[in-house]
Amino acid sequence: METRFRDTNADVIKTDLLVLPVEEKKLEGPAIRALNRRLKGKLSEQIQKSKFTGAEGSSLSYSTAGTVPASHLLLVGFGKANDVTSDTWRRAGARARKEASAVGAQEIAFFFAPDKDPDDAAGAVVEGATLASYRFNKYRSNSSNPTALKSLTLFKPGLKRTPSLERSVRRAEQTLPGVFLARDLVNEPPSVTTARFLGEQTQRHCRGRGLSVEVWGKKKIEAMNLAGLLAVNRGSHEEPRFIQIHYQPSGKARKKVALIGKGITFDSGGLSLKPAKSMETMKLDMAGGAAVIGTMSRLSDLRPDIEVTGYIPATDNLPGGNAQKPGDVIRYLNGKTIEVLNTDAEGRLILADALALAAKQKPDYMINLATLTGACMVALGTGVAGIFSNHQALADNLMRCARDAGEKLWQLPLVKEYREALKSSVADMKNVAGPHGGAITAALILQEFVDDIPWAHLDIAGPAFAETDTAICAKGGTGFGVRTLVRFLLTL
Ligand code: BES
Ligand code: MN
Ligand code: ZN
Repeated sequence: METRFRDTNADVIKTDLLVLPVEEKKLEGPAIRALNRRLKGKLSEQIQKSKFTGAEGSSLSYSTAGTVPASHLLLVGFGKANDVTSDTWRRAGARARKEASAVGAQEIAFFFAPDKDPDDAAGAVVEGATLASYRFNKYRSNSSNPTALKSLTLFKPGLKRTPSLERSVRRAEQTLPGVFLARDLVNEPPSVTTARFLGEQTQRHCRGRGLSVEVWGKKKIEAMNLAGLLAVNRGSHEEPRFIQIHYQPSGKARKKVALIGKGITFDSGGLSLKPAKSMETMKLDMAGGAAVIGTMSRLSDLRPDIEVTGYIPATDNLPGGNAQKPGDVIRYLNGKTIEVLNTDAEGRLILADALALAAKQKPDYMINLATLTGACMVALGTGVAGIFSNHQALADNLMRCARDAGEKLWQLPLVKEYREALKSSVADMKNVAGPHGGAITAALILQEFVDDIPWAHLDIAGPAFAETDTAICAKGGTGFGVRTLVRFLLTL
């Protein structure tokens, strides 16, 4: 899909689908008036009949039957002017894409006159329209892919294509393939997405200027003493992998960032086996790793002046005959020990290795993404990720980036006092605490492995996977985190 900009008017633009944002109770804008005149009052008739008021989330579709150069009209409710955010534009882009599919439109022209932040709004429309087109149809015998969109034109009388407008659209275009890659990796069946497959896909997709990939197999993982990854892998026939992706900017790097992603390719719980129902979606448990791979894969195009290393410890968590047992103790490379009382709290066990290894490189920031706890979903629901950090400026920056990207993050506290609950009778800590505050105690375990490097942990257990279709994502992997991470790296 090509994005274009045009200086023209709604009643003369020729397109398959003309989209007009309409604020609540503001049905008298110049674009609508001009169209209505050409349509001999039929549009306002239709508006009255349908009771369309411009309320957020509402829309009105109208076929012009050739009386204006645009074949179809779509009025999209934007709600109250004060409540319009970049997400309103993103959802409108998605709504437009859906309508284009419904009417078989290959071209969309979008009336583009935002009150504020035109750059953000333009990027958001492109994001919405593109994100809404994603389907994972590989395993369907008769799939109906939405009509391919040829172009999306943003227009208004006097529209100026500024460099910042173009930059924002280009960033969206360059980021979204990373979101789709992350979605694909999550949506693949878990017996396809093994640790080995994840390593191969990383090698395949993280190529290009500045990017390099190193994948460690079991021998190397043993030699490097990644004890948590090995412990979790013991119950499986599949070998583990430790994936590292490096991005080196061509100039001098202004900062050094480590991105760490949980890569549990399937979480059965291990010997602390999950009930069947809870296992149904557990192919999602590598979504943090997928977000890191998706983000890294785009850096050769986005080219931030930042050195970035991605770390993904990968294995499934299965209860095979040699599986780790409740009561086992893991000794980590930083000397710390963890008593494993619940093999289903496995994410923290493999992330500990990756965080300790990443910390040795002394990056300026470490950010990990993990579908870590059901408790975080209890706290924040499925739409919002939890963020924990030992560095408030980093957390603030990430939350700002997430807001602009339309991904929801909410900060949860690292409550020092809860460390008590992790005391073990044989080791430095145990891997589970009591029944309450599970997202926090999990985060406290991770914190033990980051030294004092500015670090943020994103618990994406909720938003990594959409249980039902949403405006910008079909049921399944969402690619959550890629858009936020890209923005973060570009604004550092
Ligand atoms: N992968 C799960 C967390 C999860 C649950 C992600 C639901 C997405 C949806 C994680 O490994 C896990 O099993 N966590 C346990 C921890 C518990 C044993 C302390 C949980 O949340 O129940
Ligand atoms: Mn688990
Ligand atoms: Zn898990």
